[in-house]
Amino acid sequence: MLDRMQTEPRPEGAPVDFWEERYAGTTRIWSGSPNSTLVDVVSSLEPGRALDLGCGEGADAIWLAQQGWKATGVDISATAVARARAAASDLGLDESRARFVAADLSTWQSEDAYDLVTASFLQSPVALSRPEILRSVADRIAQGGHLLVISHAAAPPWSRHHHEGGHGGGGFPTPAEELAGLDFDDTEWATVIAEVRSREAVGPDGHEAALDDSVVLLRRMR
Ligand SMILES: C[S@@+](CC[C@H](N)C(=O)[O-])C[C@H]1O[C@@H](n2cnc3c(N)ncnc32)[C@H](O)[C@@H]1O
Repeated sequence: MLDRMQTEPRPEGAPVDFWEERYAGTTRIWSGSPNSTLVDVVSSLEPGRALDLGCGEGADAIWLAQQGWKATGVDISATAVARARAAASDLGLDESRARFVAADLSTWQSEDAYDLVTASFLQSPVALSRPEILRSVADRIAQGGHLLVISHAAAPPWSRHHHEGGHGGGGFPTPAEELAGLDFDDTEWATVIAEVRSREAVGPDGHEAALDDSVVLLRRMR
């Protein structure tokens, strides 16, 4: 599977064009449900200010808002962000609870502080400066706050290009590779979770498969 990924050509085009085309080309890509690992991990945290990186159509940020977090989602696709805003509005969540921003995270900057930053499958077949984005945003995490990174640890078997991690997007990291890429100062950050979790999923063709996710939760100590 990974051999095929490595030999397949990388999709062309700027990241914004690739993702906009992907979202605009269909009515809805994702299920609308939050990622189960995020729900599991975040449920034990005290709600505060949350930032979701690569929020897609907004399900994770909307779930966070429903749990009492003041959530901001950022995604490069304006279509995905419009869908996220519409879904939040339909659920009666105003901008003070669920806010969505269309921006490229490689240049987007925030002056705000966050108690939680999440990145669920912030992986891409086209260019994505993922470690730089995560490191830069981690600076905005308040003392006692958390960074949760959930990634495909291997390509889903039905992935069209076997590329969701992609050459530009950092591949399919193990938890150890994720931690190495972040390269955090361990006097500043405590590793709370660094493990692979399996979950059952159903692909677009209806076939079920067990998918491995790399799950990393870090807590800022100072
Ligand atoms: C695999 S999807 C995951 C979406 C969502 N987090 C989820 O779990 O369903 C990756 C998302 O990252 C976004 N993305 C990719 N590169 C980005 C960038 N440079 N800046 C902001 N968002 C980006 C894509 O538009 C896409 O929505």
